[in-house]
Amino acid sequence: MRAPHLTAIGSGKGGTGKTMISIGLAQALAQSGARVLLCDADLGLANAGVQMGLGDSGDLPSFLAGLKPLDRSVAATDAGFDILAAPSGSGALANAGALAAENLCARLRTAGGYDHVLLDLSAGVDAAVMRFAACADTTLLVVTPDPASLTDAYAFAKLLQKATGTRLPQLIINRAVSEAEAERTREAMAATCRAFLRQVPQLLGIVPHDPRVRDAVCRQLPVLARVPHGPAAKAVLALAGRLREVAQPFPMALAAAR
Ligand SMILES: Nc1ncnc2c1ncn2[C@@H]1O[C@H](COP(=O)(O)OP(=O)(O)OP(=O)(O)O)[C@@H](O)[C@H]1O
Ligand SMILES: [Mg+2]
Repeated sequence: MRAPHLTAIGSGKGGTGKTMISIGLAQALAQSGARVLLCDADLGLANAGVQMGLGDSGDLPSFLAGLKPLDRSVAATDAGFDILAAPSGSGALANAGALAAENLCARLRTAGGYDHVLLDLSAGVDAAVMRFAACADTTLLVVTPDPASLTDAYAFAKLLQKATGTRLPQLIINRAVSEAEAERTREAMAATCRAFLRQVPQLLGIVPHDPRVRDAVCRQLPVLARVPHGPAAKAVLALAGRLREVAQPFPMALAAAR
């Protein structure tokens, strides 16, 4: 049996598009034939299920406590992937902390049943967020051209490098209104990381600003379902292709030791 590839999606600053992109990646990977679980790792304020208009988005607290196996803790979505979240509005795991993040990653890694597990992180760089980011096999950092997003993304990259000893996140530039703006954002992030971290983050891809994304989010529909031919959806499909290339599944025995 293969262990899933764990991908964490973080940003530092809130509202950069983590959940929209996580849902899009989950749907795109599922469309390519992979078995995908989207885990809402915002343990306090889960909203991936809300963004998809789901009544049931699984029972993460029971899975984390070892009270239910994974297959009875997840909920299926119409978009071809499963979801695992704390009930929205419950605040059930608000103070769960870094140890809970580590336990959850370990349990997801060894539970089996999926090729990809995507962890939609909460905003910020607190201990739990950074533990998820460090435990994942691949860490994606969603940054927008907003200067505050850049400074928070740098903090996220610095803390990830410190936690792992080596690794920087891969960048996703979201909501750029032009290629020039995306390039300025990439270069600003690269220059700061080069100067202070002696490493430059790789660019996974660019998702352009697309006014129809807001409409999809307000209607609680995945962007790939609501506007599948729009620029944001096409960019997310391309991101998923690149993530598939990065994600090499681990044999189960090796995964347990990670
Ligand atoms: N490419 C885009 N084009 C236009 N609007 C976008 C794009 N990406 C995200 N948005 C807008 O940004 C809002 C926030 O997106 P989302 O909820 O995915 O962010 P988030 O990073 O998960 O937020 P939080 O930190 O609160 O979890 C969406 O409601 C949508 O309106
Ligand atoms: Mg979110």
